[in-house]
Amino acid sequence: MTAFETRALLKQLEATVEDSLVRHLASAEDWLPHEYVPWGEGRNFATLGGEPWSAGQSPLSPAARTALELNLLTEDNLPSYHAELRNTFGRQGAWGAWVNRWTAEEGRHAACIRDYLLVTRGTDPERLERDRMATLQAGWDSGDKPLLHACVYVAFQELATRVSHRNTGRHCGDPVAERLLARISMDENLHMIFYRNVVQAALEIAPSQTLRAIADEVAGFVMPGSVVPGFARRAVQVAQAGIYDLRIHHDDVIMPLVRHWRVFEAEGLGAGGERAREDLAAALGALDARAARFVERRAEAQAARP
Ligand SMILES: [Fe+2]
Ligand SMILES: [Fe+2]
Repeated sequence: MTAFETRALLKQLEATVEDSLVRHLASAEDWLPHEYVPWGEGRNFATLGGEPWSAGQSPLSPAARTALELNLLTEDNLPSYHAELRNTFGRQGAWGAWVNRWTAEEGRHAACIRDYLLVTRGTDPERLERDRMATLQAGWDSGDKPLLHACVYVAFQELATRVSHRNTGRHCGDPVAERLLARISMDENLHMIFYRNVVQAALEIAPSQTLRAIADEVAGFVMPGSVVPGFARRAVQVAQAGIYDLRIHHDDVIMPLVRHWRVFEAEGLGAGGERAREDLAAALGALDARAARFVERRAEAQAARP
């Protein structure tokens, strides 16, 4: 897509963005992160005369701990996501207003997960800070995705984050953590709905190009947390625990949006659109097969354990 075409599309989508922003502001509840943190459990660390951190101080399971850390470090990289979105969507009008509003909402997520983990001693604070520094210095580079690819990616990504926070909360075994992560998930859900609307409008304006974007983003989806140190190891641990795995990614993230957009029912597509739809069907089939293999191997490994 040329720069001229991108500008034209941004303009064509502006009314949808404006409308979606108004709806978002009407449904987004103002919530206060400090009300979700059990401050009474907090105490000083060693340099202030308290006890140093040690792993046994929190009852969180290793998988819940890893999921919380991974979610937090992913949220921490917000400056990069903001820069990416601002470059793609621009600073003007409803697009610019959305990017800033979205950034303000996202900022709460890292703040209160960090507060929770530090107050409850659920994570090693020194390692967390080293990992945060490394994550932000690595930054997130979407590879200058074209506009439609960026919109489709963030729709999937917001839903992935909603599911991941929600499942992490359920896995924590602590009602305080569950309440906090359910609250964050509700933000992510509204973000997903915003982008879902934008992609829906794009499908009407430029169906073939939008289908191409959906096919490419399903095939090449990479979690923004992939720049977190030790991501592969942490992601495996989270998948083994059933908090976020390929089955969940296919069933609860990719398919609900593909179904919502009714991409397999669209008519009158050109040759490019039909090809994109075939590629999408192939990518979905491949993802489903990988998910089935993963679940099978996990069950075998669990059965083999004494
Ligand atoms: Fe978030
Ligand atoms: Fe979000």
